[in-house]
Amino acid sequence: MKHFLNIPDHSTDEIQEILDVAVKLKAEHFAGGNRPLFKGKTLAMIFQKPSLRTRISFDMAMRHMGGDALYISPAEIGLGQRESVADVSRVLSGYVSAIMARVFEHKHVLELARYSSLPVINGLSDLSHPCQGMADALTILEKRGTLKGMNIVYVGDANNVAISLMHVSMLLGANFTVSNPKGYGLPAEEIQYAESLSTKAGVRFLQIEDPHLAVKHADVIYTDTWTSMGQEAETAVREKIFPPYQVNQALLQTADKDVIVMHCLPAHRNHELTDEVADGPNSVIFPQAHNRLHAQKAILAKLFNVV
Ligand code: CP
Ligand code: NVA
Repeated sequence: MKHFLNIPDHSTDEIQEILDVAVKLKAEHFAGGNRPLFKGKTLAMIFQKPSLRTRISFDMAMRHMGGDALYISPAEIGLGQRESVADVSRVLSGYVSAIMARVFEHKHVLELARYSSLPVINGLSDLSHPCQGMADALTILEKRGTLKGMNIVYVGDANNVAISLMHVSMLLGANFTVSNPKGYGLPAEEIQYAESLSTKAGVRFLQIEDPHLAVKHADVIYTDTWTSMGQEAETAVREKIFPPYQVNQALLQTADKDVIVMHCLPAHRNHELTDEVADGPNSVIFPQAHNRLHAQKAILAKLFNVV
């Protein structure tokens, strides 16, 4: 495994292996036995957008396992402005052991990877959020016992988080449904990918506009912000369009009573997700956030080739 940029770059076996390593490293962590597998290694973390979970969980993942991490703020290096993406990548290649980048344009993580002699990790781009996808898979595995045959329903804006959730769910044998207002669906090439995976992997891919119909028989209901970072100018318009897609108690009542509710966070409470549901018995949003740590340790361990 050279980079971790987008889940479809990897085979089902590779994704399953990352998940297996995450389960193992999490067990070791709670048994007090983090191994110094990353000793002598440093991760450069480039951020063009804000972050709580991605920043802190990667930093702590490196520290727990004997390594180090450097935070590079949006203003610091001016990725693609002060200096070209290719040059940033070539320079960093001489200083650190791996690069994690949160960018606006997906092509910038691809460019970092192209010019780097080191592993590059996508820490969220406008296209996808694969590290989130791996933590989500770990959470579903823990809470529902398997992904195989699960009905995973994403409600709201079919954004970067929805795309990675679709990738990981379908690759690992789950059925995936997306429910969004017209004009806010998955990009055409992602629909094409989902449809081809559906045939290949024998899983269902559905697009159902009515969220109440979509969540019938759901094992997992997932939502995310209606306005992603970089779309702030559209907030007012989106706030008018998305309320029927709010994950609230009424929607939950349409689903099975043991459905789990997920959100990558940050949540905009009482917009896409009500307090009642976020803090209710079906919600797994905090264990889900905590799983970022363990999933990312596994991604790093595979890239450093130490497991
Ligand atoms: N879910 C997630 O990536 O959170 P941050 O934006 O805080 O990193
Ligand atoms: N879809 C959100 C996810 C934040 C973690 C965004 O891109 O802003």
